[in-house]
Amino acid sequence: MIYAKKGAKMRLSDKKVLIAYFSWSGNTKYIAEKIKLKVGGDIFRIETKTPYPTDYNETAYGIAKKQHEENIHPELKDIGDVSNYDIIFIGTPAWWYTMAPPVMTFLESNNFEGKIIVPFVTHGGGGGYNIVEDIKRLSKNTSVLPPLIIYAKGNLNTDNEIDNWLNNIVF
Ligand SMILES: Cc1cc2nc3c(=O)[nH]c(=O)nc-3n(C[C@H](O)[C@H](O)[C@H](O)COP(=O)(O)O)c2cc1C
Repeated sequence: MIYAKKGAKMRLSDKKVLIAYFSWSGNTKYIAEKIKLKVGGDIFRIETKTPYPTDYNETAYGIAKKQHEENIHPELKDIGDVSNYDIIFIGTPAWWYTMAPPVMTFLESNNFEGKIIVPFVTHGGGGGYNIVEDIKRLSKNTSVLPPLIIYAKGNLNTDNEIDNWLNNIVF
């Protein structure tokens, strides 16, 4: 099993990297694409079988609120396949104080044992909540590295933030 030591950096050059993300309004997608430009690897967009409405209120106060309150993890269009990867970046918006439910489905539907997970979160002011703890709970026997938590307000001028974060965890 691959366990990164606490505080130790990991070498990316000999690892296979996947960047998996869910994004409803585009912020997390934007960060995922920035990460791909910086570290390479493959990218996978997590999408639900039944798409969320395009209307904010219908999504936030309708379906997403219901899924949060009833702990519903929606079916995905494609559960993805992490088996060939060593390091999986996982991106989610903060939705109702935790990760978006489709990311929960993604975590539950794949076997992450022995892999390194690197979370990234965009939020609207609430911060990262317990998303890292929730990721650890849903993915057994993984090593979860320090997350990137981004307050998505207006212009996502985040290159420095992403660089500083990556510099602390990879070389
Ligand atoms: C359904 C829903 C729930 C949200 N819940 C929260 C929340 O609990 N805390 C928060 O800070 N932002 C919340 N937001 C704001 C998003 O986290 C923020 O806009 C994020 O950057 C959106 O990412 P995306 O563009 O990749 O979908 C919520 C947005 C939506 C649509």
